[in-house]
Amino acid sequence: MGPDLRGGIAVLDFGGQYAHLICRRVRALGVYAALLPHDVRLRELQRRGVAGVILSGGPASVYEVGAPQADPALFRGRVPILGICYGYQLMVRAHGGEVGRGEGREYGRAKVRVLEAGGLFEGVGKGRRVVCWMSHSDSALMVPSTMEVLASSEGSPYAAVRVKGAPQFGVQFHPEVTHTQKGKEMLSNFVLGVCGAERKWSMKGFLKESLDSLSKLEGRVLCAASGGVDSSVVAALLDRALGERVEVVFIETGLLRAGEGEAVEKMLGETVGVKVRVVDASEGFLGALRGVADPEEKRRVVGRKFAEVFEEFAREEGPFEYLAQGTLYPDVIESGRSAGPASVIKTHHNVGGLPSGLSMKVVEPLRDLYKDEVRELGALLGLPRELVQRHPFPGPGLAVRVIGEVTEEKLRVCREASLIVEEALKDDGLYDEVWQAFAYVGDDRVTGVLGDERRVGYQVVVKVVESVDAMTADWSRLSPRVLERISGRITNEVSGVVAVAYSVSSKPPATIEPQ
Ligand code: XMP
Repeated sequence: MGPDLRGGIAVLDFGGQYAHLICRRVRALGVYAALLPHDVRLRELQRRGVAGVILSGGPASVYEVGAPQADPALFRGRVPILGICYGYQLMVRAHGGEVGRGEGREYGRAKVRVLEAGGLFEGVGKGRRVVCWMSHSDSALMVPSTMEVLASSEGSPYAAVRVKGAPQFGVQFHPEVTHTQKGKEMLSNFVLGVCGAERKWSMKGFLKESLDSLSKLEGRVLCAASGGVDSSVVAALLDRALGERVEVVFIETGLLRAGEGEAVEKMLGETVGVKVRVVDASEGFLGALRGVADPEEKRRVVGRKFAEVFEEFAREEGPFEYLAQGTLYPDVIESGRSAGPASVIKTHHNVGGLPSGLSMKVVEPLRDLYKDEVRELGALLGLPRELVQRHPFPGPGLAVRVIGEVTEEKLRVCREASLIVEEALKDDGLYDEVWQAFAYVGDDRVTGVLGDERRVGYQVVVKVVESVDAMTADWSRLSPRVLERISGRITNEVSGVVAVAYSVSSKPPATIEPQ
């Protein structure tokens, strides 16, 4: 069960979307953290020598019958605890407070006022207001007198508390998401300050362990490269670990960005020294998607099609024992396939879309990492900055950026408009500043006017978001000048488009991809 937890942090998984992200944040502090089942006993945690415990958020209500609970002994013990959102509400209840569905639903940013400095808020400052990310419908309605209130917000009078005389803290907001100001400091205050955890985790160590364990794989490995950072890092890792025993294949699905195929061959070939085989399967993919409009069904169709193409390639060029994929942790958690009780957000094709009868075993060396960690790993492996900093692109490609049925016409609009968005940001030196920038299109037709003529055409939505790990994202406040340039170029250069809208939704409540 992973490296030694002695001196590290146990994160108990109550099914929250950010449960694993907490581990990632703790690792960024140089401390090993592991995600454990929510009902692990205090005795077991003490046996493993953890320095502290973090209780994650979760989708249930603490007062519902059958809601996941923590070992009650935890709240009576001396092991330091930080409860986050659902975990915090469990802590309030365990100490005799009241949790319920009050007025306090809060989603997205909230201003939290620090009432007590020190401890969790060391270095943040008494009286200071910090922007914190909230995502809850239940709240603490009453906290007992054995708890001290450390911070409050408009919707949560008890936004942060501590149990008097014990190293137990609770926060209603999410310090682990990057949009919470000072969240990193708060976690560091808990992990290093309160728990006194040991700093002995590093990406170099992870790389060494990955190479060791990959080199033990027996047989040949088929590696699916998409041109993105993740699959390129997997290809480079496998190349280092296995050499000739890995075959890297790029599949042209017909759902890719403009010029993708050539870029992949060039980047992987020239910079990483990996030989890439290109398989053109676009007809098959587009044929299988004909008539399919449901977003989840489209993801499943693409997943199945990928599996078919891999199988066929393996029959002709095999045998292969393994199929390697660049699945990251957010793909796993959002597909509802973590060990805990998380709910499904959407089926990421490289996770949920692969049929169970696949003849190759799936190997996913990046399964525990987040994008920023993968970029760090890529840099350690010597991949060039241009490749490491590339914007992420979803596995199902433009199928999730074309709303409704996927048609050649909408694919063309999407591709051409997205290229303009990327070019405009590159021209202004903004490309590296943002997480993703693209355009999407659906079937809605709006009326435009060209000269004296009315003309009905597509409305394209431009989306530019800022994020560190894709678990949360904020829409980018681009200047009107940049927006105007993008809009003007799209309506002038992309045939069939008469209007451009800009998405001003963050994640949550929206996701980054429109489908
Ligand atoms: P969402 O839309 O879930 O996206 O907020 C989070 C990040 O993941 C990318 N994404 C995917 N990547 N397979 C992937 O490999 C998928 O099915 C998939 N869906 C979304 C998305 O581009 C964003 O960076």
